[in-house]
Amino acid sequence: MSEPLNTKPERILKDDAPWIKPLYVECFGKEDPWLERIADSKYEAFQVNKQAFIFTYIVGDQTDLLTLGVNKNTRKQGLATKLINWVIDRAPLGQKIFLDVECQNTAAINLYKKIGFESISIRKGYYQQDDGTALDALVMAYKKSA
Ligand SMILES: CC(C)(COP(=O)(O)OP(=O)(O)OC[C@H]1O[C@@H](n2cnc3c(N)ncnc32)[C@H](O)[C@@H]1OP(=O)(O)O)[C@@H](O)C(=O)NCCC(=O)NCCS
Repeated sequence: MSEPLNTKPERILKDDAPWIKPLYVECFGKEDPWLERIADSKYEAFQVNKQAFIFTYIVGDQTDLLTLGVNKNTRKQGLATKLINWVIDRAPLGQKIFLDVECQNTAAINLYKKIGFESISIRKGYYQQDDGTALDALVMAYKKSA
């Protein structure tokens, strides 16, 4: 297998379910809700070497970064950065990219800040947990400029 950082991201297809479903569970501890939706042209999803994935939803001048995950064995090697930059590179100038991230997810928040996302608000109790508690979300945004 080629080195993931040298590999161009490829589109995720429904046929990717056998590897993406377990990888999603590894990253988030629950079933993937996104793969079934990618037949809808507003969803765009990319992967690198079956080790990292990103799902986006694009309407007009706004992109929602829905989810992003990297295989535990290949973290801290730039794969998430590569996938986010891929999405940014494909976007037209002026496009706004939004995401929400759990407030305690330091790895992801550092990643987004490093790329240039800015914090815009907190959604209190946004992520409902199975045990009845809820976690806060940080909403972040990036605007593509020249
Ligand atoms: C968050 C996640 C996607 C990062 O993927 P990654 O490929 O390891 O990230 P990168 O190698 O591109 O890291 C880029 C920067 O992010 C930050 N970062 C990444 N992992 C980090 C960690 N464990 N702790 C602190 N900062 C971290 C650093 O600033 C890093 O830059 P550096 O390597 O120069 O220090 C990965 O840890 C993951 O899949 N986590 C579980 C799923 C998840 O939380 N997804 C995000 C949901 S919003």
